[in-house]
Amino acid sequence: MKRVLLVCSSTDGQTRRICDRLQRIIEDAGDAVTLVLIENARDVSPAGFQMAVIGARIRYGRTDVRVIEYANRHAAALNAMPSAYFSVNIVARKPEKNRPETNPYVQAFLRRVAWRPPMLEVFAGKLDYPRYGALDWFNWQATGAEKGARAWFRPSTRREQLLTLVITDQAEAVGQRILSELHRGVTELAGRGMYTGKPHSVLMCALTVTEVHRLESLVRDEDPHAFIIVSPVQEVRGSGFVPLREDEAGVKD
Ligand SMILES: Cc1cc2nc3c(=O)[nH]c(=O)nc-3n(C[C@H](O)[C@H](O)[C@H](O)COP(=O)(O)O)c2cc1C
Repeated sequence: MKRVLLVCSSTDGQTRRICDRLQRIIEDAGDAVTLVLIENARDVSPAGFQMAVIGARIRYGRTDVRVIEYANRHAAALNAMPSAYFSVNIVARKPEKNRPETNPYVQAFLRRVAWRPPMLEVFAGKLDYPRYGALDWFNWQATGAEKGARAWFRPSTRREQLLTLVITDQAEAVGQRILSELHRGVTELAGRGMYTGKPHSVLMCALTVTEVHRLESLVRDEDPHAFIIVSPVQEVRGSGFVPLREDEAGVKD
């Protein structure tokens, strides 16, 4: 009889259910399983076991940092025994991301740990909409991680996105403050006043509605003669907004 360590990271219970099922299957095969939740795993070493399995959910594009720490702290022991890792996430619903080699979270996990599990698996997680608090949904849609959920949530919670144009002769000062205080990208375009023929800079910056008053206030500080245009936009894609490339969405590991 083998002693198998099963470490589980689960927030909403889906990964836990997979671990429970795995435990039953292994025990039915005659081996012994110790199931440890990641929050209790700190002092549990894989050294006393003959096999280890770690299963971890993804939230906000991340594997629980405690799983990564655990895998690194015990990498030597884990690498010396048969071991397996599986990730539970929603992007695994997509056929092109439902294998360990193609799932971005599994690949990101492997880049961050010294453990090399010979067995890898990925399971499509569950979206249990009624269970989640508003904060969870709001935060998650901000990562742009799951297209369906994002689309579902967008009308009610996404902050209005705006394009701002600032016509200014203090482009350097204004631009630097946008970068350092709003943490938004900003592009300087060369403009020319058609009446005076004088050159002016045009700073182009995509923001959300809650940031506009800060933009106006810092522009006022740096250049009281600036001209600001704020207009709603259909969609902003790129850094700080919904990612341009779907496969970048939410992968933060
Ligand atoms: C707040 C929240 C954030 C999530 N973030 C992601 C994500 O970034 N990428 C992803 O593929 N799945 C994401 N999911 C889906 C979970 O991975 C899926 O619901 C999984 O079944 C959760 O596992 P658990 O029930 O064991 O916690 C998220 C789910 C929630 C509720």
